[in-house]
Amino acid sequence: MDPKPINSTIRNFKGLEYDISDPKFEGLSKRAIKRLLRDEQWDANKEERKSTLREKVRVRRLEKRRQMREGIIERPPTKKKLAYLSEMTNVGLIVDCGFSDLMTEKEHLSYVKQLGYTYGKNRIAPKAMKLALTSFDDTLKDLLDRKLPTWQQWKENTVSVHSESYMDLYDKDSLVYLSADSDNVIEKLEEGKNYIIGGIVDKNRYKNLCQDKAVKQGIQTARLPIGNYLQMASRKVLTVNQVCEIMLKWLELHDWQQAFMDTIPGRKLKDVKLIENESPREEEEEEEEEGSQKAP
Ligand SMILES: C[S@@+](CC[C@H](N)C(=O)[O-])C[C@H]1O[C@@H](n2cnc3c(N)ncnc32)[C@H](O)[C@@H]1O
Repeated sequence: MDPKPINSTIRNFKGLEYDISDPKFEGLSKRAIKRLLRDEQWDANKEERKSTLREKVRVRRLEKRRQMREGIIERPPTKKKLAYLSEMTNVGLIVDCGFSDLMTEKEHLSYVKQLGYTYGKNRIAPKAMKLALTSFDDTLKDLLDRKLPTWQQWKENTVSVHSESYMDLYDKDSLVYLSADSDNVIEKLEEGKNYIIGGIVDKNRYKNLCQDKAVKQGIQTARLPIGNYLQMASRKVLTVNQVCEIMLKWLELHDWQQAFMDTIPGRKLKDVKLIENESPREEEEEEEEEGSQKAP
């Protein structure tokens, strides 16, 4: 191999040759250049990583099936069985579907999928919520008819659909609008309360949309206590179904940290740090023993 000229601008990072005079490195420190190269390598290997992961999942699935066939592990309960075992709580979950005009076609499609997950997860949850879709309009009906025709079979006892707003259907004092922009942090989900999720996919284009709407309507607002349990690099705005799933997990386990860890997707948890707290359950028990009351 020819030795590199003394003033060569070619460098090597983990077997990857790069030209330091490339304008994209201009003004960057050595460490920043390495970080950039590492990110580029990570992106370039995306497809390979995906297919390795797919293969791993396939092998794991086959192995699990074999173990089930041979009676080594139990078969998980079917959705039908889970739905049968699901217990209805007195906690309401309202999806406010009044944002049809604010979404693009693509966002509408994700939204419809999220509604499907929300319905499906709630139906089979050990502790289910009284699910309602309010301000349900023709735009949403058409979309569901086209993209999720099975919605016609949604069971009436697990979801109610209303063209009216929640303001016309519920006692205002029972309503809590969930919003990542709220200053109030929720500590627990209460029986008799009806929690509203903004039915929108907006990549956070409309910051404060739901918070402002609720304040105008004189409704209490609250955000999930993510910051008390996880230190996340990215913003804490979640999707409709993620919020629903976190609530369902909390109803089942009474453990916010577990609920977040089980529900927030891995990519959002990439740089996450757990905040070590006493478990809320332990705190509650201690306070109960002392006879003190926690603010709702
Ligand atoms: C994609 S977000 C919509 C963001 C929208 N810009 C807004 O103003 O809320 C969908 C809904 O999930 C709920 N949500 C998302 N992240 C939340 C959080 N950290 N705490 C409470 N609710 C949250 C809110 O009800 C929100 O309206």
